[in-house]
Amino acid sequence: WKSLDDMDLAGKRVLTRVDLNVPMEDGRVTDTTRIDRIVPTVKSIINRGGRPVLLAHFDRPKGKVVPEMSLRQIAGPLQDAIGRKVVFAADCVGHAAKEVVDGLEEGEVALLENTRFHPEEEANDRHFAERLAANGDVYCNDAFSAAHRAHASTEGLAHLLPSCAGRLMAEELEALDAALGNPVRPVVAIVGGAKVSTKLDLLANLVTKVDTLVIGGGMANTFLASQGYDVGKSLCEHDLSGTAREIGEKAVAAGCTILLPRDVVVAREFKAGAESRTVKVEDVATDEMILDAGPDSTAHIAQVLDEAKTLVWNGPLGAFEIAPFDRATVEAARHAAELTRTGQLTSVAGGGDTVSALNMAGVARDFTYVSSAGGAFLEWMEGKDLPGVAALG
Ligand code: 3PG
Repeated sequence: WKSLDDMDLAGKRVLTRVDLNVPMEDGRVTDTTRIDRIVPTVKSIINRGGRPVLLAHFDRPKGKVVPEMSLRQIAGPLQDAIGRKVVFAADCVGHAAKEVVDGLEEGEVALLENTRFHPEEEANDRHFAERLAANGDVYCNDAFSAAHRAHASTEGLAHLLPSCAGRLMAEELEALDAALGNPVRPVVAIVGGAKVSTKLDLLANLVTKVDTLVIGGGMANTFLASQGYDVGKSLCEHDLSGTAREIGEKAVAAGCTILLPRDVVVAREFKAGAESRTVKVEDVATDEMILDAGPDSTAHIAQVLDEAKTLVWNGPLGAFEIAPFDRATVEAARHAAELTRTGQLTSVAGGGDTVSALNMAGVARDFTYVSSAGGAFLEWMEGKDLPGVAALG
């Protein structure tokens, strides 16, 4: 793929796919991370004489115009972040878009309405992609986090205009390559989260790529149960016992060590202030549920990290939303951050809850790289080709 530096942007309309799918409450953006992270791309385009025309989706309006899902509400926060005038167009194609793009003054930014207001966007309709392309001379994709979608604005456009990766996209691809594509070994993956069922492909791929796979969170219970442990009332997908065993066998064949908790924090209820105790995995009572990894397991993870050169992390190790069940996640995150600060470890994290967990531990900034992506990060960990990246060539 080409980067922005490889393109001649002077006087060009640069149709830039960004991800503005930010969390909102009562019409206010509650986390501006995704907005902040596209700023370098937009500024680079302006500095190199180009006119940024931003395309994005917001939420899932299913091909209909849904006023609450309008990108109009993002124009203000975007303007604050970029420090340039942002002009909003009430449609991403047709007359409304053309008028705004044609009238754009030097240094201004156009923001076009939610691409998903048109059903042709998700259908990756060629004619719709051509209508989008009519407002650009160059296509820049800066939405790694939407690159797992083969939509007109994430994939189709790359076939119609000279194309390149934006700064954030390039940064993501380089960081991910350093973590799994071409990593310095030993490589450790930490995978947590509630359910194995959502991460089967990911685990199956990781055991062939990493030296040690740490499994935590609710999904570890399914693995423990598959080895004959009684996990009591814990969240557990008993029907996936066979699959968990197969992943274990695949790991052995590939020379990957799987690390499961050996002690756990259990409680009878999952709520703040619930009475909890730490027990060995073989001592969970039938009316108890596992809510976190215990101190012995956390120390073991720390030891493995001490030996590692690369870490890729997705998903919390326990029910981190409620103390004290956040302890294993926070301690492992702080340990990884410390090793990263001293230059011993390259640490890459991504996907939904992971970023919140690292923020809670106060260490997201210390990681080598924290991806802006949720679903796309998972698909990349599954070893899948992301259509939005593949189309950039
Ligand atoms: C995300 O928020 O992960 C991306 O913007 C993709 O959104 P989607 O899952 O609705 O395609």
